[in-house]
Parts: sequence; structure tokens; C-alpha cells
Amino acid sequence: MTTKRKVILDCDPGQDDAVAILLALASTEIELLAITAVAGNIGIGKTSLNARAVVELAGAETPVYAGCPRPLVRDPVDAAHIHGDSGIDGATLKPPVRPLAAGHAVDFIRDTVRAQPDGEITLVAIGPLTNLAAVLIQAPDVARRVREIVLMGGAIGLGNTTPAAEFNIYADPHAAHVVFTSGARIVMTPLELTHQVLATQDRIQAIRALGSEPARQIAGILDAYPKTTHFGATGGPLHDPCAVAWLLWPELMGGKECRVEIEMSSGPSLGRTVIEWRRQKREANALVLEQVDHATLFQRLIERFAIFR
Ligand code: RIB
Ligand code: CA
Repeated sequence: MTTKRKVILDCDPGQDDAVAILLALASTEIELLAITAVAGNIGIGKTSLNARAVVELAGAETPVYAGCPRPLVRDPVDAAHIHGDSGIDGATLKPPVRPLAAGHAVDFIRDTVRAQPDGEITLVAIGPLTNLAAVLIQAPDVARRVREIVLMGGAIGLGNTTPAAEFNIYADPHAAHVVFTSGARIVMTPLELTHQVLATQDRIQAIRALGSEPARQIAGILDAYPKTTHFGATGGPLHDPCAVAWLLWPELMGGKECRVEIEMSSGPSLGRTVIEWRRQKREANALVLEQVDHATLFQRLIERFAIFR
């Protein structure tokens, strides 16, 4: 019996964040200590509310902490045009009953990591990196204390928000710079990987056929989620669940240790992840994942969601 992975999930729900939360809650390999919300897809009031509603949809009691309401430096941007004004279009969730956990997400992350032996806690970040950057600025020792930071963000090539930048990095490039220069162990699932994991219609139907309320809500979200066509398939790319899936099934993914730098100058390249993908000239600071067995991953996702009743 492998020991459970203690995880703090930092997110901005967000349609795909909601699916990632449910995957984590459905997986006994993960001990989800808490969810920390950050402003990103939508404002902090809605991301933290949505996180609480998704936890209660799963019948869980995972505490949800609210975090930073805006990026470190740049003016806020959101993705309401993608995720809807609620931040979670396609879902019809009951308003949460349990209140927000008391205290700020940044303080919770810092104190929880320091309270555990080094290497115990994994931070999974699937929104802008503002909360994690605030922790690392306030408490640089957290970088060496965490087991690793597994993040969805960035791109080896083209972005999805601008030609240069993926949303999570674009929304707070200065926070991303703090994280990637912190010395923490980083595993990165960029767009090149997540665009292979598409919620095609047949896959959505298979999830809906599971019949539980969580499965129906996931199918509703995925029906509403904007579609894209990559590698000959059309569906909504499951960006955020890929970061959780790395913890569960790392054997399904591949990539290489690379140097990753963040473009912070204003202009068309703001938020670009500059990745030494072809030639490593400097010390690597991240494992950048690019290959994924998406068919097997999706099959396992569906099997995992079958746990909900
Ligand atoms: O670019 C994809 C990322 O941006 C995902 O985390 C999605 O939720 C949005 O936050
Ligand atoms: Ca997200």
C-alpha cells in the first residue's frame, strides 16, 4: 500500500478546475488537505464559492481557503468569456453550506508546509500562481520543504490567451517568475500536453452514463466547455485534471528537465514561458511534460469518476 500523497490544491474554479477537484476527491492515493482559491478565471469571491460548492457536490468536507484577489503587479485579467459569469458554466451546483475556512490561503499553505516534515506536502497549482508566489516571498524556506509543485501552465510553443502566453502564466507572470526561480522542484503540464486530453463527445457521454450527480455535473461542464481541435480530435482540453493525473499516473506522461524562464516585459510576449526544449544551456528548473497516453488517461478518469454515487 503506497502512502497517500498529502496535497494542497491551489485553483481558480473554473470549469476544468472543478473536474480536477473532483478527480482529486475521487482518488484514494491523494489526501487532499485543503483547497486554496485564487483570482484567475473569475474573481476570488466566485472561485472560492465554486470550490466550496464542488467539494460539497462530492460529499466531502475539504476546507477551502480564499487567497489573493489580484495578481502581484499587472492589472487583473479573467476568463469569464470562457468559463461564464459564474466561473463554472454548465454546472448547476447547490450553494455551499459550509463556510470558507478561517484565515488566508497564503498563511495556511506556509504554516501547513512548515508544520509537516520536509518533503511531505505537494502543492498542485492549476490557476495563476499568485498564492504560491506570495508564500515563497514571505517564506522562501517553503521551496525546499515542499515535495514538489505540480502546475498546469505555460506552453512550449503558442499560447492560448495570446500567441505567446497560456492563461495561468499570463494572468500573473511576475508570480510565475517567483515560483520558477524559487528553487522548488517543479513539474509542469503545459498546453502541448493538455491539448491532447480532449473531452470528446463520446467521452462526455461515458461520464454522463455513470449516472451520479457529480458525473452529471462533470458532463454538463464538459458540454459547455469550449471545444478545440488538436491532433485530429475535437473536444474541450482538460487542462487542470492533467496536473492531478500526474500524481496518480505519472507513467502515462513523459517530458524532460528544462530551464524555464518567464517573460515579464510588457508587450506581445508578456507571460511567455521561454523553455529550453531543444538545447539545455542552463541548469534545469522544471520537468516539462509533453507526451501523454490520453486514451488510457481518459479511461482511468472515467473509472475514477465511477466512485461517486
Ligand atoms: O490555460 C488553461 C488554464 O487557464 C486552466 O487552468 C484554466 O482553468 C484557466 O485557468
Ligand atoms: Ca484553472
